[in-house]
Formats: sequence, C-alpha cells, structure tokens
Amino acid sequence: MRWRSEKRWCAVILAAGKGTRMRSHLPKVLHRIAGKPMLQHAVDTAVELGVNQVVAVVGHGAQQVRSQIHRVDSWVEQTEQNGTGHAVQCALADRALDSADFCVVMYGDMPLISQDTLVRLMQAAEMESLALLACDMSDATGYGRVRTTENRVSSVVEQSDASSAELSIRLANTGFVAAETRLLRTLISSLSTDNAQGELYLTDIFANAHAQQTPAALVLTDNETEATGVNDRRQQVQLERRYQRQIVERLMEQGVSFADPQRVDIRGELRCGRDVFIDVDVVLEGNVELGDGVEIGPFCRIADSRIAAGSRVDSHCAIDGVSLAAACSVGPFARLRPGTEMAEGAKVGNFVETKQAKIGASSKINHLSYVGDAVLGERVNVGAGTITCNYDGANKHRTTLEDDVFIGSNSQLVAPVTVGRGSTVGAGTTVTRDVEEGVLEVEHRDNKTVRGWVRPQK
Ligand code: UD1
Ligand code: CA
Repeated sequence: MRWRSEKRWCAVILAAGKGTRMRSHLPKVLHRIAGKPMLQHAVDTAVELGVNQVVAVVGHGAQQVRSQIHRVDSWVEQTEQNGTGHAVQCALADRALDSADFCVVMYGDMPLISQDTLVRLMQAAEMESLALLACDMSDATGYGRVRTTENRVSSVVEQSDASSAELSIRLANTGFVAAETRLLRTLISSLSTDNAQGELYLTDIFANAHAQQTPAALVLTDNETEATGVNDRRQQVQLERRYQRQIVERLMEQGVSFADPQRVDIRGELRCGRDVFIDVDVVLEGNVELGDGVEIGPFCRIADSRIAAGSRVDSHCAIDGVSLAAACSVGPFARLRPGTEMAEGAKVGNFVETKQAKIGASSKINHLSYVGDAVLGERVNVGAGTITCNYDGANKHRTTLEDDVFIGSNSQLVAPVTVGRGSTVGAGTTVTRDVEEGVLEVEHRDNKTVRGWVRPQK
C-alpha cells in the first residue's frame, strides 16, 4: 500500500543505540533479518510507503551504519545516547525536518512493520494530531505498557518503571508514533530523565499529551510479528524464524512446494513459476528466479541467479550469479560462479567449478573439471579432469571450444586457446596452441610394456 496525502510526511528512524543486549561489536541495527540489516528493512518500508523524506538518527557506530545503509535522505547524529526522546529531539533540531508537516517515528530494531499498519497510524495522526501503535501481546515483557482511558492513550510506562499492576497490562507499546510535527516539538521539549534508566523517554510524551487534553489516538495491530523488536540474539532468531515462515507460506500459496517449510531460508527476493520444488536445507539469497517445474535438491546455496523452466539442481551445489536456460542439469556437488551461463539442455556434473563460462546448448562438463573464462559451443563434451589454464599469474585468458568439440579426460587447455569445430583432443593432452577444425589433437607418448617386471618388495 502506498501513502497518499496532501501533507508532507517525514519518517524519523531511530538507530543510534548501541544494542548492549546483543553483546556484539556490530551496531544492533546492522544485525540482519533475512540477510538484510534491520535498519535497511525499516528504511525500505518507509521509502516504499512513499513518505516525502527519510531521516535516520545514528550515534553508536554511526560511520559504519551510514556506509552500509542506503536510501536515507538525511542523517542526524545523536552523539550521546540519552534515550529515544533525546533521539527525536536531535532529529527535530535538524533543518531537514523544517518542511515536514507530520512525522512518523520508526525504529531501527523493529524491522518487520508493515506498510498497511503504518498507513493506519498515519491516517489516525492526520485526523487527531497524535497517534500511537500498540499491540495486545501474549507476553508483553520488555515492552512499554500502554495505559488507556476511553480508548485513548493516557500514558506509557516502561518495563523498568512499572508497578506490578502495570506489568500485568498486555497492551504493548510498539514504539511507532505518528504526529503533527508542531505538536511533537511542543510535547518533546518538556521531557525529563526522572525515571529508572535516567534517560529521556519518547514514551513520556503521551502522559504530557493527556495532561494537555490532547491524548493520543490508539491504533492497534494484532500481528505480533510486525510489532516485535529485537533487543537480543534470542529475539533476533525468533523473528527470523517467524519471518521465514511468512515468506514460505506466501510462496506455497503461489504454488511452490517445499520438502520442509522449516528447513529453507530465503534472504532476498525469490520469484517462482508453477510447480517449483525445493528440497531441505536450501538457502536462497539476493534475487533468485526459478522457472516452472524447477527442482532444487537438498543442501544448495543459490544466490542472484536465474534458473529457467524444467532445470534441475541436484544436492550440494553452490550457485552464484548464474543463468541457466531451460532443461539444464547441475550437480550434485557443483560450484557455478558468477558469469556462468548455461544454454538449453546443458549439463554440469559433480565436482565441477565454472566461472565466466558460456556453455552452449546440450554441452556437458560432467566430472571433476575447472572451466573458467571459457566459451563452449553446442554439443561440446568436456571429459573428466579437464582444466582451463586461464590465469598466467597476471591476466586471465579465454578458452574457446567450438561446436561438437570433444575434450578427452585429464586434458589441460592453456589459454588463450581455441579448439576448432568438431575436433577431438585426446585424453591427457596439454593443448598449448589453437587446434584447427575437424582434427584429432593428441600429445604423442606411447605406452611402454615391460614384461617380467617385478614390483619392489619391502
Ligand atoms: C522502546 C520503548 C518501549 C517500546 C519498545 C518497542 C522508549 C523509552 N521505550 O524500548 O516503550 O515498547 O521500544 O520496541 O522509547 N535509540 C536511539 N537513541 C537512544 C536510544 C535508543 O536512537 O538514545 C534507538 C535504538 O537504536 C533503537 C530504538 O531507538 O533502534 C529503541 O531503543 P531501545 O533501547 O531498543 O528501546 P526499548 O528498550 O526496546
Ligand atoms: Ca528495542
């Protein structure tokens, strides 16, 4: 869902905290869910929602965060992390927000908030100036608790400041707030550090608003996954599993089969045709496209690749930056590196590594080979143990095998080299110069037979 409004909206994403509870050298917001930094999830959601501007507040590890996160319009530094309220004060003090009529405050450690829910929160703020997103949680431990009167927010109490009666409240503060910028400026100017953590809490604006007879509207979500924050590694992996479950459910609805929906990880964008089958322990990363009827065997990693209809990847393959046409066959135990392109019906078998290799239709590299910087025509057969010697220590060189070439086992092709159409290279040949069309190229070393030879004894 995209946000449409006459007003100028700014998303302020809080990401300055250290994330002490992660016990990590990496700033918390750079920890990943589904292969993407948590902060990037929040930024992408805001950008795709269509807010006018995205501001991120950074502090702990600011340089590192800034270098790894994209699509942020302006960065605000919070040099000392004095709490979420202080972070918003820093953002409001930045010129970037001068033109924003409304702000929506988001969190770098709440990666899975949905656009639909943000839209509901923002609509409530346009009508009522201030709105808070809460979630009725089965276990609200760790979250601020939302106190209400007449269905509006009267205050939010932090876990560490709550009385035992307040701790029994299940309505959790997600932290997401939408407000008219002018009102937010007023409310945020009067925060105090008089609390258990000695910080400026953003959540204290709600008691202020209530005291000024402008209590916040309460917007609810019943989706605990989008309302879940990550403070430690246990929560991170819980959220990861829940998110993976969501992705897999959606793919199953689209007609994809999984041997076990709990044993697959999708870290990026996966597009599938009909009747794709994915076996156990497969990891799919980046942009992956699988055509109709593609089968992926167990224990494969596939990144940024396109696999066309009817192709089959057997178990234990590592495939990265590759394009396979229809009806190809790969593996088991193959490693296809970036720039590998297989035309229709081509085959790569076990213990084969390819890189920058164009493999023509119906060509085969079935066993134990390295084929790099190579162009193979159609119906080429590369025998077991063939190596393209593509690297001279300084530069890479190309090997070209024209249509219908047959390379005998255990041959070396010292690039740059071309083997002409229809030629055969005998087993065990080191090819150091171009081979013309239609010939047999063989390194001539006859066998010797020694009769009566005795094996050495101990
Ligand atoms: C906060 C809320 C809590 C809510 C929970 C939801 C406050 C006081 N508490 O608690 O009510 O239930 O989120 O997940 O707001 N940050 C800064 N600067 C700071 C402190 C934090 O930018 O000085 C950022 C952090 O990087 C993080 C986010 O704000 O992304 C939340 O901070 P965190 O310390 O995780 O707050 P919680 O204790 O989870
Ligand atoms: Ca948090």
